[in-house]
Amino acid sequence: MSDSPFDPPIPSELTVKLSTLTQEQQAFLAGYLWSESQRRANAATSLNGVSPMAAQKRRITVISASASGNAAGVAKKLVGRLEAESLEVNLVSAGSYKARQLPKEDIVIIATSTQGDGEPPEEGVPLHSYLFGKRAPKLDGLSFAVVALGDSSYPQFCQCGIDFDTKLGELGGTRLLDRVEADVDYQAVTDAWIEKTVAKLTEVAGGNSIALAEQAEEVVVTSAFNKENPFNATLLDSIPLVTEDTGRIVNHVEIDLDGSGLRYQVGDSLGVLTSNAAEVVDEVLELNGLSGDEKIEARQGAINIRHALTFQTDLNQLTPKFISDYASTANSTDLSALVGKKEKLASYQAWTPVIGLMRDYPQELDAQRLFNGLKPLTPRLYSIASSQEEVGEEVHLCVARVDIEHDKKTHSGSASGLLCSRLEEGDEIEVFVEPNPRFRLPQNNDTRIIMIGPGTGIAPFRAFMQQRRAENAQGKNWLFFGNRYFRGDFLYHGDWIEYRDQGLLHEFSLAWSRDGEEKIYVQDKIRENARQFWEWLQKGAHIYVCGDASRMAKDVEKAILDVIKKQGKKDEDDAVEYLNELREANRYQRDVY
Ligand SMILES: Cc1cc2nc3c(=O)[nH]c(=O)nc-3n(C[C@H](O)[C@H](O)[C@H](O)COP(=O)(O)OP(=O)(O)OC[C@H]3O[C@@H](n4cnc5c(N)ncnc54)[C@H](O)[C@@H]3O)c2cc1C
Ligand SMILES: Cc1cc2nc3c(=O)[nH]c(=O)nc-3n(C[C@H](O)[C@H](O)[C@H](O)COP(=O)(O)O)c2cc1C
Repeated sequence: MSDSPFDPPIPSELTVKLSTLTQEQQAFLAGYLWSESQRRANAATSLNGVSPMAAQKRRITVISASASGNAAGVAKKLVGRLEAESLEVNLVSAGSYKARQLPKEDIVIIATSTQGDGEPPEEGVPLHSYLFGKRAPKLDGLSFAVVALGDSSYPQFCQCGIDFDTKLGELGGTRLLDRVEADVDYQAVTDAWIEKTVAKLTEVAGGNSIALAEQAEEVVVTSAFNKENPFNATLLDSIPLVTEDTGRIVNHVEIDLDGSGLRYQVGDSLGVLTSNAAEVVDEVLELNGLSGDEKIEARQGAINIRHALTFQTDLNQLTPKFISDYASTANSTDLSALVGKKEKLASYQAWTPVIGLMRDYPQELDAQRLFNGLKPLTPRLYSIASSQEEVGEEVHLCVARVDIEHDKKTHSGSASGLLCSRLEEGDEIEVFVEPNPRFRLPQNNDTRIIMIGPGTGIAPFRAFMQQRRAENAQGKNWLFFGNRYFRGDFLYHGDWIEYRDQGLLHEFSLAWSRDGEEKIYVQDKIRENARQFWEWLQKGAHIYVCGDASRMAKDVEKAILDVIKKQGKKDEDDAVEYLNELREANRYQRDVY
């Protein structure tokens, strides 16, 4: 044993003795020595203050699927509480989570919102489609719980949470807690859910374990200002981008963030705190026979109803709950009949503002009932249309004013009306940055990008181009843009011509839906350029889609799948798989609303 690898070496007398043992004796001794070494190692670990049983504790993975940070915030808060109980927990956003890992998980807790028309938020799409696809796994060994965030003014309330919860159960998972669904003022509900979940997990997974480090996520530069503490910014300008004859208002909005320390990245959104126009508030008060001075109890104490209607209630989005409560005392057989018909109610709700319901079926509500029934007013998000490399402390947006017609009268959407029409230059507006780590330029500046952004969907691509220009990125850029008319509706056409002239915009495909006999949309342009689109994909291009979720994003996805099928010679399932792989590799990113 002179060449023994051990230090100190094994004594030679022992090796001599060992050589005299039978094979069985040697095997017994080997096992004995191994178990003895384990016992000693465990004892040593205990001395370091960590239980030797730690390895047997159950693993908890908390997955958040979020678009604007609400579900992510709930997940983070839960993990903080679990760590305080010394539970072993790993927090991951659905966008960074490899769906195929799911069968290997022990306990999974999902916090998700719902987007689009009952769809998963963008980062939750791969997990959702894996669970609902042909290759969905068996999950017999999994325990799970789901919290679903949503908005009851949408017909498919909390649908994505319902989907996850139902599917995990169908695939064999054990439900630890009943699903909880939380509306826009979700905090009290989710806080209660967090406490229940912590109690349950402490019971089933045991305490005194080691908390794992969070999976590395994008580092977000923070300022003192955020959603809870927004910055009082100044409006610098709000300039029309389309001509009057288009019949619409779309503005380029510039906001000054000077002094806030707020930093944003291209791909992020700006959150804007909004308020209702005085005329709309006045009409609601009048329709209810109120002066505006009546006191009501709000979360922060007693305030007058005019203030509450201006800053705290949504006067454009009705909820089914408000309509049925209103119907219960409206003394109208028509309205009661409407409430009984699900589809008609959904359509009425989508196209009728609060004053519309009150004009159609007049009755007077007292101030407190009015306030309690209305949906809370929430901040609106706008895709950022600038890069700080180019605009410094400013932030630019591209805002389409929503015009709400009812009974031959029109008023503007709350935030879009504020940004496009009601605010004057120099006025203050409260804002925060909403990071969107799932909508980022490729890290490699040589990578090609395909940007598909009709209408206001063009906003982040202006920011992308500013950033790529500032970084002298060599990757090729291809824009798909569409709107109604070439003349008057081509948003930021001056910028795009400049990018083309500077050799930065290598390809552009434009679709005008009302210029000719035939309606042309961006998805038609994708199909028309199928061969080149496929070539770009083969060369590693990243695809970005921004804008309308309800129709455009779906039609564009169908067109991309058609390209993959035809050019890549794949059947439907393989094309879907291919697109999912692109998504998982961050090569297919969407910011749709
Ligand atoms: C991530 C993200 C990015 C976004 N980026 C942009 C962007 O870059 N540019 C942009 O312009 N927008 C963008 N939006 C949309 C934006 O956030 C707002 O939803 C939009 O401006 C409308 O808000 P508002 O307050 O003006 O209208 P609201 O006050 O919310 O009024 C509109 C609502 O009124 C209701 N309504 C009732 N009756 C009618 C009627 N007769 N007609 C129409 N609506 C009716 C509908 O429910 C409708 O949703 C984005 C949204 C998200 C989530
Ligand atoms: C464009 C858009 C579409 C939405 N669609 C739905 C929906 O279909 N059903 C629902 O319950 N909530 C819907 N919501 C509401 C969100 O789920 C809700 O605001 C949630 O708190 C957002 O959480 P997040 O920030 O984690 O994404 C939608 C919100 C947006 C902005």
